[in-house]
Amino acid sequence: MRRFLLFAHRVPPDGAFTLNDLAGGAGRMDEVARAVSTAFTLSNDLRRDTEMTVVFAAEPPPRARKVELLGARLRHLHPDERSTAALLKNALVGSARYPQEFESSPGIRVAPVDPIACLEGFLRQPGVVWLVEGGRPLAELPDDAELSAFVSDPFDPSPAELAVLEASGARRVSVGPRSLRTSQVVDAVQRELDLREARRA
Ligand SMILES: C[S@@+](CC[C@H](N)C(=O)[O-])C[C@H]1O[C@@H](n2cnc3c(N)ncnc32)[C@H](O)[C@@H]1O
Repeated sequence: MRRFLLFAHRVPPDGAFTLNDLAGGAGRMDEVARAVSTAFTLSNDLRRDTEMTVVFAAEPPPRARKVELLGARLRHLHPDERSTAALLKNALVGSARYPQEFESSPGIRVAPVDPIACLEGFLRQPGVVWLVEGGRPLAELPDDAELSAFVSDPFDPSPAELAVLEASGARRVSVGPRSLRTSQVVDAVQRELDLREARRA
């Protein structure tokens, strides 16, 4: 299984944003949606071996939300960022009115979250990595069958998140020498894991 934890720092967690201003008033929801779409979409198919949790951390609990996307059950996810943003917005808007965990559409679960506790839990998984510029090259990592990776949205982790990441001892891993967009980082990880899988086959 490939697992991603993506922190979205400025997207309104109640979904109160317009799809017509994803890169502005929606707090760079365009890039969050692009990262989600990149994590799951193939040419005419979806990756069933991938899960992604998006933590909407612009507000503290009880307003913060997480949206979990499970590739094995996912439907209605298309490659374009606007429809992906609409799926996520739909989950957030529904959750603002009904704050128990529920499935907003097949393969998409939404719930209130404590972002720091969620990050700590994710970092306890074996083999977890922190995707960051200047880390050890991903290609040099042992050929593990599974990977769990933390990545931040266009905005860097908060000081509290950084403290948790640093204390966790998670391996810092880089996908290349340049500072990339979140969606490009996700793309590079999926490509490297695809190559590894093909070599093992
Ligand atoms: C746009 S970057 C964050 C902002 C970036 N630190 C900056 O100063 O512009 C989005 C995410 O991608 C990660 N990232 C960017 N380039 C990377 C690379 N070459 N390898 C691994 N992660 C990378 C960052 O650590 C961050 O979590």
